[in-house]
Amino acid sequence: MAKHERWASRIGLVLAMAGNAVGLGNFLRFPAQAAQNGGGAFMIPYLVSLLVMGIPLMWIEWTMGRYGGSLGHHSTPGIFQSMGKSRAWKYLGVLGLLTCLGIASYYLYIESWCLSYAIYSLLGGFGADEPASFFGRITGQSDNQLFAFSIPGLVMFAICIGINIFILSRGVSGGIEVVAKVAMPLLLLFGVVLAVRGLMSDPISDEAVKESPWVGLNYIWSVPDFTQIANPAVWLAAAGQIFFTLSIGMGSIHCYASYLRKKDDVALTGATTAWTNQMCEVVIGSALLLPIAVSYLGLQGVKDSVAGGSGFGLAFFTLPTLFNNWGPQFAPLAGFLWFGLLFLAAITSSLAMGQPVMAFLEDEFKLSRVKASWALMGMLLFLAVPVALIHEQGVFSDFDFWVGTFALVVFALMEVILFAWAFGMDKGWEELTRGAELKVPRAFFYIMKYVTPTFIIVILLAAIFKPSVGWDGFFGSIGSGQGVPAWEWDADSVIGKILHKDLVTPEDASPEVVTYYENLRTVRTYDRIGLLAIFAFFSILVAIAWRRKGKGGTPS
Ligand code: ALA
Repeated sequence: MAKHERWASRIGLVLAMAGNAVGLGNFLRFPAQAAQNGGGAFMIPYLVSLLVMGIPLMWIEWTMGRYGGSLGHHSTPGIFQSMGKSRAWKYLGVLGLLTCLGIASYYLYIESWCLSYAIYSLLGGFGADEPASFFGRITGQSDNQLFAFSIPGLVMFAICIGINIFILSRGVSGGIEVVAKVAMPLLLLFGVVLAVRGLMSDPISDEAVKESPWVGLNYIWSVPDFTQIANPAVWLAAAGQIFFTLSIGMGSIHCYASYLRKKDDVALTGATTAWTNQMCEVVIGSALLLPIAVSYLGLQGVKDSVAGGSGFGLAFFTLPTLFNNWGPQFAPLAGFLWFGLLFLAAITSSLAMGQPVMAFLEDEFKLSRVKASWALMGMLLFLAVPVALIHEQGVFSDFDFWVGTFALVVFALMEVILFAWAFGMDKGWEELTRGAELKVPRAFFYIMKYVTPTFIIVILLAAIFKPSVGWDGFFGSIGSGQGVPAWEWDADSVIGKILHKDLVTPEDASPEVVTYYENLRTVRTYDRIGLLAIFAFFSILVAIAWRRKGKGGTPS
């Protein structure tokens, strides 16, 4: 049973936690976000968000996890209920299962692309083959087609899910920890080899090299553009990146921390994993995608290719082509290192998304690990099949928005209120600092109590109500005396998403395209119903489990 499981060693715990946080967000999302939001301009809001939100929430999640774990709970319904008096907390904790499962369903799909690309690179595939057509072959996607079907892609997806389920069925120390101990050092090695080779490209000695790769690195590390600090869009992007990259607001950190002993340190270990993640992001993450791409495309070319996108194009289409410039021998190896790095980063994170659901079934329903892993597989397939069979603009992007972005912020707000206000900041502080091997600065007591929740509320409101002119346009218009601009919801605002503003049929569209957009909107309505159904399903399980145990909602 989960409650008897423990991390076997401190280094294993740190590597597993770092593996939880270090993921695709570090190597794909971060460079794309930085490039879209002005490079150095992004870094100040990013660092402020890290200090007032990322680190405090990291400590809160570690502390909550260790507390709940000492009472036999390793998933957020039980952990929340053990800290709050109201019976509602265990239902609010269900969100921590939904986020993990929902994100895993599409995250595992990307993971399977990485595995396919890594194998194909090693076989020398991208020398003659276009990476973009390979992408089409493994996803089966084509423009304006709702359904996507690729047998090799589905097989790789199934293999990826199978690998994850197998590792999870081996347990925390026997599966997750063993994998982290191998994957994390390997990932660092792959990253360093690629970064060193990438930064050696030289426009003077190589005609193919357009601009020095250092231009790409300097773009992030240049003197920050202080004027952008007043741009709310950059703040939203930076805060969103901090959530995703640290895996906060997901429920997975709580789960890993719940396998600690009551007196184990959480302050130093929690901070160490946060800094390890940041090191992998701002040092290695910024030394790969952008500098390599900049050397062959130029900075402007890179900015154009990430504008409004996710970094997928650069990672899956552009880089494998560019590696051919590194010579016929090294190109396949470079492709393997790049996609291998992404795969290792992804799998150590997807394991962390699966474990909370397993732990929930093991703790609250006394399922064996093997049975829990089969149940997890069934739930994953329920969500993953539509992700893979419908165009990326359908279920995939919708899940990424609702569970991979919005739900994280909502969940983080609930947990900080629970920790600092319902459980109480005095008790919370005592928990955090018990056994601490690091003196947590007292300022964080007040940051956790006042600053972090306020910061999250502002972000949430800004994301829900964002106008189409953007907040910078909105306030700029008022500031320059032009008055309040006409109100319209932004396509990426929460309300805009509810109203499908980001799926407006283009003007002069052919009848097929009109149908395609109509279908996409319908699909998105159903996938949201699917997510709500999973929330309801877990809530019913929670109700049954607590009724059976006769706990009736009193803190255990
Ligand atoms: N924190 C994980 C990532 O960065 C989810 O990909």
